[in-house]
Amino acid sequence: MRGLFLFLKFSLVGAAAIGIRDSPDQCPGYNAINIIEHDNSLTADLVLAGDACDLYGSDLLNLKLLVEYQTDNRLHVIIHDADEEVYQVPESVLPRPGSKTPGSHRDNPTIRFDYQPQPFSFRVLRGDQVLFDTANTNIVFENQFLHLRTWLPDNPNIYGLGEHSDSLRLPTTSYTRTLWSRDAYGIPSNTNLYGNHPIYVDHRGHAGTHGVFFLNSNGMDIKIDKLYDGRQFLEYNTLGGVIDLYFLAGPTPKDVSMQYAEIVGLPAMQSYWAFGFHQCRYGYRDVFEVAEVVYNYSRAHIPLETMWTDIDYMGSRRVFTLDPLRFPLEKMTELVNYLHKHNQHYIVMVDPAISDIDNEAYNRGRVRNVFLSRDENDIYEGAVWPGVTVYPDWFNPETQPWWNNEFERFFNKSYGVDIDGLWIDMNEASNFCAWPCKDPFDYAQNNNLPPIPPPVRPAPRPLPGFPNDFQPQSSQHGKRSSSLRPRDTKGQKIGLPGRDLIAPQYQIANAAGSLSNKTIDTDIVHFGKGYTEYDTHNLYGTMMSSASREAMLQRRPQTRPLVITRSTFAGAGAHVGHWLGDNRSQWDQYRISISQMLQFASIFQIPMVGSDICGFGGNTTEELCARWTTLGAFNPFYRNHNEIQNIPQEFYRWPTVAEAARKILDIRYRLLDYLYTSFHRQSETGEPFLQPLFYIYPSDKNTFANEAQFFYGDALLISPVQDVGETFVNAYFPSDIFYDWYTGQMIRGEGKTITLRNIGITQIPIHIRGGFVLPLRSKGAATTSELRRRGFEIVVAPDRDGYARGKLYLDDGESIHPANSSMVEFEYGDGQLRIRGEFGYHEAVLVESVTLLGQRKRKGVMGVRHGNSSDHDVSFDADRQVLKKQVHIELTAPTVINF
Ligand code: GLC
Repeated sequence: MRGLFLFLKFSLVGAAAIGIRDSPDQCPGYNAINIIEHDNSLTADLVLAGDACDLYGSDLLNLKLLVEYQTDNRLHVIIHDADEEVYQVPESVLPRPGSKTPGSHRDNPTIRFDYQPQPFSFRVLRGDQVLFDTANTNIVFENQFLHLRTWLPDNPNIYGLGEHSDSLRLPTTSYTRTLWSRDAYGIPSNTNLYGNHPIYVDHRGHAGTHGVFFLNSNGMDIKIDKLYDGRQFLEYNTLGGVIDLYFLAGPTPKDVSMQYAEIVGLPAMQSYWAFGFHQCRYGYRDVFEVAEVVYNYSRAHIPLETMWTDIDYMGSRRVFTLDPLRFPLEKMTELVNYLHKHNQHYIVMVDPAISDIDNEAYNRGRVRNVFLSRDENDIYEGAVWPGVTVYPDWFNPETQPWWNNEFERFFNKSYGVDIDGLWIDMNEASNFCAWPCKDPFDYAQNNNLPPIPPPVRPAPRPLPGFPNDFQPQSSQHGKRSSSLRPRDTKGQKIGLPGRDLIAPQYQIANAAGSLSNKTIDTDIVHFGKGYTEYDTHNLYGTMMSSASREAMLQRRPQTRPLVITRSTFAGAGAHVGHWLGDNRSQWDQYRISISQMLQFASIFQIPMVGSDICGFGGNTTEELCARWTTLGAFNPFYRNHNEIQNIPQEFYRWPTVAEAARKILDIRYRLLDYLYTSFHRQSETGEPFLQPLFYIYPSDKNTFANEAQFFYGDALLISPVQDVGETFVNAYFPSDIFYDWYTGQMIRGEGKTITLRNIGITQIPIHIRGGFVLPLRSKGAATTSELRRRGFEIVVAPDRDGYARGKLYLDDGESIHPANSSMVEFEYGDGQLRIRGEFGYHEAVLVESVTLLGQRKRKGVMGVRHGNSSDHDVSFDADRQVLKKQVHIELTAPTVINF
């Protein structure tokens, strides 16, 4: 009976559906009826326009269309099933923006909706320009397959659709971008990686830029290709969910990014210290080795802000436990105290997969039923680092309090490991056991899970003041716990019934093979509303991210938590940062890290991003590591990390790398307030600070495919050397004025490529763009807390007309709601530097000098009109064409400095 009901409901009425179609083109599409136009919206019913094609499942007969003019720049188009049973991305994971203002955006919108009722198709236009067009294509809306195609202009410039390691500007033929979270060791190109960001930016040069966000978390293939007749298209082929599209009008790339942030949330502001340098490695043998690394950094005079520890600290790699032999609590506490005493920080990893052996966290979670399960007595098991593991169900309301409680216990300030930030990993979720994972225990026993490092040995060079009296304790291996309690499965609703949640007919190009392979089984049903893993797989990492941020906030409610995650979905940046996963120590991966970083920072709104500096997998080389050290200094998140079996790659291991690190860290730290100010701006407005060249020069075609250079903030053009053995870089200079960071030499950019030569491996080309004022710290420091006590050097880089502007944001560096802050504005022109703005923050904010770039000759008298200074030393460097004036000005009130 049930089968008959389903047939009538989801398939074509009657028996006309004879003859299986094999292409969406042969499907009938829908007719729009009952079309009603409201002030700011349009609604219609969509009914299947002919025989069901049942291409990869059953066609839905009745749909609903809702078009909303949400703001002047944003149009929302959603097509969902009439019964509203089909899964939609939960609001608890990504709240919907709604309409911004009640006024009528329809009167004069920047973009507008246009449609044909029968068969239904629609267009989105900006002025006369068609941005999105489904004409002559058929929408397919089945229970396990959605299809929607839009026509694109010839040779389009499309960006986004991550996470991927392909070119920044996406290929336009035969390109498939699959979105399905995957533990993607080596981050191969043309495959799905860890996270999912179904937004693309369509850049049309002079004609403007727009964005299209497809809010759908189901596994999907997005294809960009041409038809045989040359017509260019982009199409979505999705395993479920609804057609939920947000059109962002731009018209500049920056506008699109900001409009996207209005949907997915503004990125979380980070603490000042989080922008310091981080050292990590998988395979530190014991707490002494970790301490030794801290010591070696300080001996090498390379500023180390934060030390990290990978799963090595765990007892047999079980989360929320310590290895009693290698990382006993007493020594961990000493290490953390040492770091804190020296104004350094400590971070460890937490994986979602929990071992059920000897693990109180597991037992407590078991009692609260927080783990994914098939039914009451059948907790779902996979195999990750510790062997057999279970997975938290982030949809279960009990999971957050349980997670908070485990954090409060294990990371307790008084009797636990008092971490300052958190690293979360394996949250795609990863499962080493291949589907069907029949016996994870057997799998863990027989499938070579990576070995734990060899036994402890005393540290040769312990930290000063870090007693080397460590005695190994006896090992505490135990049995698997069995305090099981049935799980409450009441009230679950699993979305559309009758779906094949393991092997749907349409197969996305998941590089891991079948949907459930190497992850959680997709037919698992989550708690509460009963979301299926099939529908929500792509959200797992982001849900762990927000839960972990919350747990960190419970520990330190006033401070901004630093949480770095591997798997992300749209909106994750509001909670966490991201590292780019398991790259390899190879030049192509060094290069692609630029494009990946740009996508996350400027398009996906996850600006706290960085790659594993020097590479994770495989052995790095001195040259690659030195180059990556300099490039990495322009990753917002700057961390050296590598894999257990590879040679060590801390910066002090090679003299040249150490030199590169010292030099570039001095520059990074001098620029840290510039970064902090720019990052703050993005967290307040969504305006991206890390940008591809076309973001700043949207009309300059030469910039559209450039993925070798980038802007670090609006003012700095970074042009890394690209390959092994090279000491030059062919750098593109758009039509603008630039000043060489090192020599002050002015380059009048004419939209040409210039070969920059003699770039030693400890150096990276940096150019300051004319028109900007940079607030630099006077010099670097060993830690960011020392840096915050340094004075400022204000560098003025005039544009062609002799003007420059800049900003400096100051606060206590860590509070979620800082009591005091300053937003200082600098404006230079006509021989005057005017300093204005808001001056709420008064601690240690002294300007010590002002440097004016691009000066051919020494200028006349200078004076300071505000404060107690009179004339001060002025020096002119004719070689660098730089005029430098020593001053002594507290940044606590407006000032004018005359040149
Ligand atoms: C994963 C992470 C990597 C980490 C390793 C061990 O591969 O991506 O960064 O070192 O697990 O925890």
